Amino acid sequence: MSTVAHTAPSPSQVKGQPAGPCAMIIFGASGDLTKRKLIPALYNLLQSHYLPSDFAVIGFAFDQMTTEQYRLKLAEDIHEFSEIQVTPDLWGWLEDRIYYLHGDFQDPADYQRLSQQLTEIDRKHNTGGNHLFYLATSPTFFAKITDQLGQAGLIAENDGQWRRVVIEKPFGHDYESSVALNRQISKVLKEKQIYRIDHYLGKETVQNLMIFRFSNGIFEPIWNRRYIDHVQITVAETVGVEQRGGYYETAGALRDMVPNHILQLVALTAMEPPISFGADAVRDEKAKVLHAIQPLDPDECKTCVVRGQYGPGVIDNKQVLGYRSEASVKPDSNTPTFAAMKMCIDSWRWAGVPFYLRTGKRMATRVTEVTIQFKEAPLMLFRDTPVDQLKPNLLVIQIQPEEGISLRFGAKVPGPNVNIGAVKMNFKYVDYFGSSPSTGYETLLYDCMTGDSTLFQRADMVEAGWSIVDPILKSWDEHAARDFPNYAAGTWGPKEADDLLERDGRHWRSTMI
Ligand code: BG6
Repeated sequence: MSTVAHTAPSPSQVKGQPAGPCAMIIFGASGDLTKRKLIPALYNLLQSHYLPSDFAVIGFAFDQMTTEQYRLKLAEDIHEFSEIQVTPDLWGWLEDRIYYLHGDFQDPADYQRLSQQLTEIDRKHNTGGNHLFYLATSPTFFAKITDQLGQAGLIAENDGQWRRVVIEKPFGHDYESSVALNRQISKVLKEKQIYRIDHYLGKETVQNLMIFRFSNGIFEPIWNRRYIDHVQITVAETVGVEQRGGYYETAGALRDMVPNHILQLVALTAMEPPISFGADAVRDEKAKVLHAIQPLDPDECKTCVVRGQYGPGVIDNKQVLGYRSEASVKPDSNTPTFAAMKMCIDSWRWAGVPFYLRTGKRMATRVTEVTIQFKEAPLMLFRDTPVDQLKPNLLVIQIQPEEGISLRFGAKVPGPNVNIGAVKMNFKYVDYFGSSPSTGYETLLYDCMTGDSTLFQRADMVEAGWSIVDPILKSWDEHAARDFPNYAAGTWGPKEADDLLERDGRHWRSTMI
């Protein structure tokens, strides 16, 4: 264990308001999420002065390790995964507050040991009896761990102390299982103690969707069916399933991305203005959008949804394997790695405005963006000019890897004739705000510590998300895809995804203007 005394950031350097005293207990502390995201996020919070000065972490996992060995491991990992430079002083400060507890998630005796260790840590680090339990484990343990925490008396909030539980995705694997999981954990926890995390909501540009819409008077009046032709949301990845073939075989593109990340983007794009930024005011409006999405009937599941699976292809000039040849994937797998769909929101604002959604692995480019396509201006003014077509205005909210917002409009091409060129105004985050590397978990962890659940999914929202995809999952289970693999790695998915829009006289935005 380190014997060097490390200094906490001095209050004079403090830019934001640090969270109050607390201890964070990570279940699944030896896993990927902890080393890649959670510990680097805690380090970033420390560096930007948002971490409480009275703080400690207990890592809890199956692996046999001492606290000293765990600290050594994390010290190596942080250098590999942190995107900012790790200084010995700051890391030393955090490392001195990290402990490890080897235990079995299902053994009550280990929860008693955890309880004792928490008492010691509260005393040593002044963490005030406030405990944040982070379940970074396989979903099979979510209910079991919550139950054990309850039985060990670790959930009770006494004397102004708080106890919160963060639950990672996937929250259930269909509607029924999500309802069952909500029911199980709510036997132990109050809704306000549950933080169902969706890491998309930790992305600055995703949070900006709401700020952009509601802090600018010029957009809200045109944000409806009178002016908007349709909305497109693309979440395209160039990576394949990497080491996660086992998990992905049970999930597939639809479960993995749609009920959570993509529907959150839909909700933020389509929601009504909330009455405040209070957690329930925002979540009420998002929930209304999810409830207004029309579940597809069995015929629509065939005509309005497209599934795909990648075959071999080329990404970044390198030949890559097809999905069926990836590790832990069945050679005849029927798991989709691509999904596209058309959905409608049955509300006054959105009646008749289709939302086209697509997501896939091993696609041509990595891009996440929301595109609002406005209705075209009438062409008749231009009838005596060479202009035979007007391009619609596009507002593109770019979430990653570019972060920004662009607006496409028509401008006169210089010259004696009337010709129109499509041009764009382009705001890039980095130009105005610089770049501050983050894991996407910083805000979310800070919010858990300060008790702000605005960016977390409520029980009804998770269930509504699953109820939207459930009919599609059932339809796909009943009718195996016969044409898999149906797109080559490095392309934009199966042709049917283009047909889906072309049937409506539309097309997916190409990332080039
Ligand atoms: C995860 C999915 O939730 O999100 C992964 O399980 C996916 O399959 C990832 O790759 C995408 O997240 P991001 O932040 O890289 O867009």
